[in-house]
This record gives sequence, structure tokens and C-alpha cells, in this order.
Amino acid sequence: MIDLSTRYMGLDLKNPLVVASCGLTTGLQGVQNCANAGAGAIVLKSLFEEQINADVSALTEASEDFMHTEALEYLEGYGHACGPHEYLSLVRDAKQAVDIPIIASVNCVTAERWVDYAAQLTKAGADALEVNVGFLPNTAGLTSTVVEDRYENILKSVKARIDIPVALKVGPYFSSFSHLAHRLGKGPQAADALVLFNRFYRLDVDVNSLKVVAGNPYSTQEEIHTSLRWILLLAGKIDSDLAATTGIHDGLDVAKQLLAGAAVAQICSTIYNNGFLQIRTILEQLRGWMETQGFNSLDDFRGRLSQIKSEDPASYERLQYIKGLTGFE
Ligand SMILES: Cc1cc2nc3c(=O)[nH]c(=O)nc-3n(C[C@H](O)[C@H](O)[C@H](O)COP(=O)(O)O)c2cc1C
Repeated sequence: MIDLSTRYMGLDLKNPLVVASCGLTTGLQGVQNCANAGAGAIVLKSLFEEQINADVSALTEASEDFMHTEALEYLEGYGHACGPHEYLSLVRDAKQAVDIPIIASVNCVTAERWVDYAAQLTKAGADALEVNVGFLPNTAGLTSTVVEDRYENILKSVKARIDIPVALKVGPYFSSFSHLAHRLGKGPQAADALVLFNRFYRLDVDVNSLKVVAGNPYSTQEEIHTSLRWILLLAGKIDSDLAATTGIHDGLDVAKQLLAGAAVAQICSTIYNNGFLQIRTILEQLRGWMETQGFNSLDDFRGRLSQIKSEDPASYERLQYIKGLTGFE
């Protein structure tokens, strides 16, 4: 009998497949669909800090000067359709409707007024909070130290306000990610989980209309490698659990991330592409693979391929193709 149960930032999950924060988890119906298809936990669509502090118009007004309308619509769509009040109701209703952990999500770039709202999410019954931090440091005078201080400050401010587990979801664009991951992921103030990595809204250029437009919002399977690399490198070295996200499209992708050392795998694009039943399919694929390998539980293999357990740790840090070492010219 294969046991897929796992712990993720102190929560008991029946399996390691978590539905990532996205438009599919905006409302109760989507939450129920994910639960019915067998998800281990659900991250609700993010509320934006701006929505909490004012409303989404503040966000869009600020962007209007430089963004094309279609990009703007996408951005508005990316924000949660409801306001902070309705979001609390969604948390309450979701908790009533399903028996798996419900993780609320806030998208922010500061640790200002919105953090008080986090306490209300706790009262509404959220099992945990995922804080999605991401801003573009597009100012020449802004140093990497100031940027990284801001991430730590947000984490500390949220952790000081609430006692449910806090996950920090970040992007991959840092000059020294290992250093930052240790700052955020070690010690008494550590994030309960680091979610690696957010796939940010992308810009594209339409060469026919000669306009800047929204890029493809959905990932491909090829995009798994950035998070896979960092989970391989970080597993077992920091206190935070690691959640893998971006490019996880089937059961073998989940197996890869677990072998690397992830506690859970978060999925989004593959559900958009294939429907909610993809959750069930992925779990069946994972079970099938475990059976073939002779594994009965996740602990039989989790982290087995992480750098910390490797006899050739230097090979994990190879960035260039050198024929003698990689086999590629
Ligand atoms: C339409 C759409 C909306 C999203 N909204 C959010 C969001 O509100 N908050 C968040 O943290 N991530 C959001 N994401 C990112 C996903 O949670 C996920 O991290 C990303 O899509 C990578 O996973 P995937 O490769 O399985 O799609 C969104 C993604 C999509 C496609």
C-alpha cells in the first residue's frame, strides 16, 4: 500500500500535490473541484497588498502610463476579483467545504499596513499564509542588499503578527540566492516554507501590431529546471520546507522534485491545460512510479538526490558545458 502523506510547514497533507495560487482557486467552486480531484492542499488566489490597503484601482492607475491595455487587463485579471472582505468569506467557506488545508495568499512588495490583515485571515480559519513577494528592482540606485533586506523585513513583520505557518514565495532573480535562502530559511524567524519559484507575469512584443503585450501565462515542462536546481542545492541545508513550483506538469515531475528534496509540488498551468482531473492523473502517475521503484512512502526517497547527500557535490555547481564532464560539446 503506497502512502503519499506528508508534512508541509507543520500541516498534515494526504499527498504532496498542492494547487498553486491562481485563477482556479479564486472561488469556492474551484476550491471544491481541486479537493474533489484529490489535491493535498490548496493555495487561494492572492489578494494584492494594494487591494488590502485601498483597492485594485490604485495598482492599475499606477501602471496605466506605461502599459498597453491588454497587459493592463491581464494585470487586473491577475489581481483577485474580490476585495479583502469577500476574501475572508472565501477562506471561511473553503474551510467549511473541504477537508484539506487552505492556504491564504497575499501578493506584496512592502511590509506596511496590510500585515494587520493577516491576523484576520488567521481568524477566518486559514491554515497557513503564503506571501508572494516580487517586485522589479528597476532603479539604478537600488542595491541588492536593500532588495534582500526588504524580503527579510516582510517575513519578520508577518511572522510577528500571526502564529499560523508562513510560506514565502519568491522569484529566481537574485544575485546570490543561496545567501538569501539562508537568511530567510534559517533560525527562529525562518519562513516555514520557501516556495521556489514564482513565474512572474511576462512581457512580450507583438511584431505585427508593434505593441508590448502580455506573454504566455502558462509554463512549459521545460521550465522545471530552475526550481529543480535550487531544490537540489538547498534541500537539507535550511530549516524551511521547500515547495517546488513552475514547470511541474506530470507525476514524474513531482517525483523529480521530491527526489531533489521538496516537501510538496505546486501545480497550476497543467490544470489550466488539462482540467481539474489532471490532479488525479498526476497522483496516479506518482503512485505508479513509486510502485515501480519499490518505494512505499515519500520518506523512502525524498531528498535522496540532493547535493547534501551526493558523493559528487561539485557536479551540482557546474554551469558550463565542458565535453569531458557533461558529454556535450
Ligand atoms: C493565470 C495565473 C494567475 C496566477 N495568479 C497568481 C497569484 O495570484 N499569486 C501567486 O502567488 N501566483 C500566481 N500565479 C503563479 C502560479 O501560482 C504558479 O506559481 C506559476 O504559474 C508556476 O506554476 P506552473 O508552472 O504550474 O504554472 C498565477 C499563474 C497564472 C497562470
